[in-house]
Amino acid sequence: MAVPLYLANRSLTFRDFSRRSKKKEAEQYSNIKLPSEKVYQEAKYLLEAWKLVVFPTETIYGLGADARNDRAVLSIFELKWRPQDNPLITHLWYKEQIKDYATVENEIQQTIIDKLMPGPLTLLLKKKEWTISNRSCPLDYVGIRLPSNAVAQRFLQVAELPVAAPSANISWKPSPTNAQMVYDNLHENVPLIINDWESFAGIESSVMRVVPDEEKKWQLKIQILRPGFLTKEDLEDCFNHEIKVEYTTKNPELSPWMRYKHYSITGHVRIFDKLENIKVLVKEFESENPKIWILLTQELMDWNKEMIKWFKEEWITIIPRWTKANLASCAHSLFDHYHTAEKSWINLLFVERLPEEWIGYGIMNRVKRSAEV
Ligand code: TXA
Ligand code: MG
Repeated sequence: MAVPLYLANRSLTFRDFSRRSKKKEAEQYSNIKLPSEKVYQEAKYLLEAWKLVVFPTETIYGLGADARNDRAVLSIFELKWRPQDNPLITHLWYKEQIKDYATVENEIQQTIIDKLMPGPLTLLLKKKEWTISNRSCPLDYVGIRLPSNAVAQRFLQVAELPVAAPSANISWKPSPTNAQMVYDNLHENVPLIINDWESFAGIESSVMRVVPDEEKKWQLKIQILRPGFLTKEDLEDCFNHEIKVEYTTKNPELSPWMRYKHYSITGHVRIFDKLENIKVLVKEFESENPKIWILLTQELMDWNKEMIKWFKEEWITIIPRWTKANLASCAHSLFDHYHTAEKSWINLLFVERLPEEWIGYGIMNRVKRSAEV
C-alpha cells in the first residue's frame, strides 16, 4: 500500500519511540484499559448509555460521546469546562458514512476526502438536518474527521455511531497525547480511557473548509482555520492543478476556538530566538529561585556551549529534545513537555522559536497561544 500523503517525510526519532514506556505507568488506574474486543464492546455500551469514552487518535486523545444525543454531548462540555459555543468535530470510521451526516458540495472537497482521509484533518461540510445534535454543532457546516489510528477506527466501527469528540483535556490546557495525560486532566470522571501508544502527531488535526475565491470569481480555495499536522504544503501537493490554500487563523467568527484561552500551563511560557535574550529575562524575573526550563533544539545547544554552561550553573534545566531537521518529532513531543513542565511546578518555560513552515506553522500557532498572558 502507498504511504498516506500526510506521512511522507514524517518519521519519528528513536527517542520519540522510547517514550512509549509511559503506557506502563498508566495501567494502574481502573478506568484506563488497553484496547481489546471486550473493551471496544464496553465502549459501545457506554456510548449507548449516554456516557463518555476517551479514545486515542493519531493526533491526540479525544473525549467521545454519541454525536446525535444532546444529553451525552452536554456532558462533554461540562466535564472539560468547554464554552458552549465552541462546536465539536464528528468522528466517523469510513468514507461512505459521510453522506449520512453531510453533503459534499464540490470536487475540491471530494478530492480532500479521496486523497487525505483517513488522516489528521477535519473538513467542514454542509450539515444534514436532524442528524448531528445541535448542541454538538449548531452551525450549518459540521467538522467531519476520519482518524487513521487503528484503535480509533476499530472503536468507531464497533460503536456504530457518529462520535462527537474534542480533545480529552480541561479546555484551556494542552491537549493530551497519552493516557496518563488524559487521566491527569479528567481523573476518574470518565468511565473508560482506551490506552494506546503516545499519539503519533502530537498536535491536533488541521480544520479546513472550501470557499469561493473572491479574487478569481468562480474558483474555489481552501482555508485552513486551525493549522495542524496536515499542512498547507500537503494540501497543495494533493491536487494535480494549482490551488489557493491559505491560513485564516485570526478570525474568531470562522474559528470559534480563537475566542478562548488554549494550551496554557500554570507557569509562564516565553518564546525565544537567541539564548542571550533568556539570560536577560531570567535576571529580571521577580520570583525567588524560580524553576526554569528551556526547551530548545539540539542545534542551538551545540552552537552555544558556553551559554549552556552558565544556565546549568544557575540550576536551569535544559531540554534539548528538538531538532529543526525533524519538525514532526517536535510536534510529537510538544504537549508532553508542557504537561511535564506543569507537573514539575515550572515557573518559567522558554520555548525556542521554530521555523513557521510546514508542521512548524502548527507548532508555533500553539506555542504562541500558550505564551499569551
Ligand atoms: O485532532 C483533533 O482534531 C482532535 C481529535 C480528538 O480528533 N480533536 C480536537 O477537537 O482537537 P477540539 O474540539 O479540541 O478542537 C476542534 C476545533 C474546535 O476548537 C472548534 O473551534 C473547531 O475545531 N471546529 C469544530 N467544528 C467546527 C465547525 N463546524 N466550524 C468551525 N470550526 C469548528
Ligand atoms: Mg481542544
